[in-house]
Amino acid sequence: MSKDNFTLTFSGSREPVTQSAYALVDACEKLGIIRTRCRQGKCGACQIRIISGDYEEIAPMLALTEKEIRNNAILPCVLVPLSDIEVEAWYK
Ligand code: FES
Repeated sequence: MSKDNFTLTFSGSREPVTQSAYALVDACEKLGIIRTRCRQGKCGACQIRIISGDYEEIAPMLALTEKEIRNNAILPCVLVPLSDIEVEAWYK
C-alpha cells in the first residue's frame, strides 16, 4: 500500500481513500453516510463531523457556519485526506 492510501472509518465500517480530489466524498457515499448535490462546498448536503484525521481544503467549505466549524463539521466534497479519517454523523 502506498503512503497516499488511507482509510475512512464510520461507526466501525471502513473504506479505502486515496489522497485525491473527491476520494473522501466518494468513500462517504459508498458507505451510505451522506448525500451530495453541488460537490463544491456550497450546498451543505454532504455535511458530516470529523472525529480524527488531517485533510486539505481544495475549495472553501462555504456552506458551514462558524458554529458548525467549531463543532468539527466538514464538507468532504472539497477535502483531500492527508491521513486516515474517522467521521460520525452530523446532528444539527
Ligand atoms: S455536496 Fe454540496 S457541499 Fe458537499
